[in-house]
Amino acid sequence: MSNLANPYTGPIGVFDSGYGGLTILNNIRRSLPDYDFYYLGDNARTPYGSRSFEVVYEFTLQAVRKLFELGCPLVILGCNTASAKALRTIQQKDLPYLDPTRRVLGVIRPTAECIGALTESRHIGVLATAGTIKSDSYPLEVHKLFPDIQVTGVPCPMWVPLVENNEFNSEGADYFVKKYIHTLLEKDPLIDTIILGCTHYPLLYDKIRQFTPSHIHLVAQGEYVANSLTDYLKRHPEIDSRCSKHGRTGFFTTESTEKFRESASIFLKDEIDVKNIILE
Ligand code: DGL
Repeated sequence: MSNLANPYTGPIGVFDSGYGGLTILNNIRRSLPDYDFYYLGDNARTPYGSRSFEVVYEFTLQAVRKLFELGCPLVILGCNTASAKALRTIQQKDLPYLDPTRRVLGVIRPTAECIGALTESRHIGVLATAGTIKSDSYPLEVHKLFPDIQVTGVPCPMWVPLVENNEFNSEGADYFVKKYIHTLLEKDPLIDTIILGCTHYPLLYDKIRQFTPSHIHLVAQGEYVANSLTDYLKRHPEIDSRCSKHGRTGFFTTESTEKFRESASIFLKDEIDVKNIILE
């Protein structure tokens, strides 16, 4: 994307450890077609799901700094693991000195907000990376809003590699999809709603649907994140007026651009403009 005409406006940044955030970007672009976006995938260092708090925080902070340098007034951490492990610290500790006029938002709160209206049994499940489950971010966010809801989580460490390696339609995927759903429903058979708490999981949606009892509601978060962002921009005109609006998207990756283009085609239909970037 060429440089911006108005130095005080810039694209909305969407960050993910890899390709999964493209599912979030797709939903956001559908809801906000006139806005500009920069997508940054830290594909060279993905996956984040099994990394420590300190490492995920450091990598995520580097990405936020880079997107600020590129002119983004608002950054969405389109990655549950980064939202779980880094968002709060970045908002509270780093933003005040980086630039208090800019904003960093995550994907967990908007997903938690929709849950109250979806569950009747008040028992919900969360399927996510080991890092997201271990952080307890989903139970914490859900209980802030709906203290009566019981939240049970199960880590699914094999699902991201299945998606990243284009194996999400294989027999191996069948095995691992059944395995984690079975573990979750064995832990709490009263669950009637399951949050797919990782941006890669929408690509496994058909398989997850196939192996989940039909009365259970599956929540893929893209739509909820997009609605929440649209609402946020309406409520914050001071941020909205700083978002450039030419309907364009630029992509950045820490891996090779060729590899990004090839793998991103699983998630995106259009030809993309992608540049290599170093995070440090
Ligand atoms: N995109 C990340 C998430 O939503 C998962 C991928 C990873 O482990 O890096 O949690």
